[in-house]
Amino acid sequence: MREQLIIGNWKMNGSGAANAERVQGLIAETAHISGTAIGICPPFPYLAQVRGLLAGTAIRLGAQNLSDRTEGAYTGEVSGAMLHDLGCRYVLVGHSERRSLYGESDAVVADKFAAALGAGLTPVLCVGETGEERQEGITHAVISRQLQAVIDKVGIARIAKGVIAYEPVWAIGTGETASPEQAQEVHQALRLLLATQDRSVADSVQLLYGGSVRADNAAVLFAQPDIDGGLIGGASLNAATFASICRSA
Ligand code: PGA
Repeated sequence: MREQLIIGNWKMNGSGAANAERVQGLIAETAHISGTAIGICPPFPYLAQVRGLLAGTAIRLGAQNLSDRTEGAYTGEVSGAMLHDLGCRYVLVGHSERRSLYGESDAVVADKFAAALGAGLTPVLCVGETGEERQEGITHAVISRQLQAVIDKVGIARIAKGVIAYEPVWAIGTGETASPEQAQEVHQALRLLLATQDRSVADSVQLLYGGSVRADNAAVLFAQPDIDGGLIGGASLNAATFASICRSA
């Protein structure tokens, strides 16, 4: 049985005061949830603050990005070792906003996945097609290319040390969620791609869905056989809403 996992991606939102309120609310609202792992990914400058707020709770810490390098003269970059040092367990890799706004190629994303593993972090690899690509009927080709680039870099066995999030670009922050059938169909395709290379990796790796997950559509998405939880953006900023999504898993 794969554990259900819900990760909140705060993106570039927060302040010291807002974080404290949000995390305290989340701790109170999720105290009775069992059987579902919960993680949150605040912006870099607040990792230490949020780590302190989460001390003694089961909620896990993650970051939204990392450098593909280990250390040195890379102004403005943050290494996996630093994130590990700050108590992070997860790190998002290849989020569509990184790919589209900051030019991260499949090769860079693969390097970042490898860097995260090297630092003892669990990379959450994000893959997903744009609306145009879906219309062209190349969804499977796109997600296969994105995933295979990482498999080619780290080897199939080490994929099991990460998590994969299917996030259709057209569903991120748009309010337009993939239907449970659409999401399940792609999750199944991802698992089949893994299975052709290693059956046990395919069976064990957690596949999350992301893209406009809300309290009112989470349960039906998470009920799909190949969906093991969610990566939540906007709805993770409200403690009560995020907790309600966590309860749906
Ligand atoms: P959203 O974002 O839930 O706001 O659509 C998801 C994500 O970007 O991970």
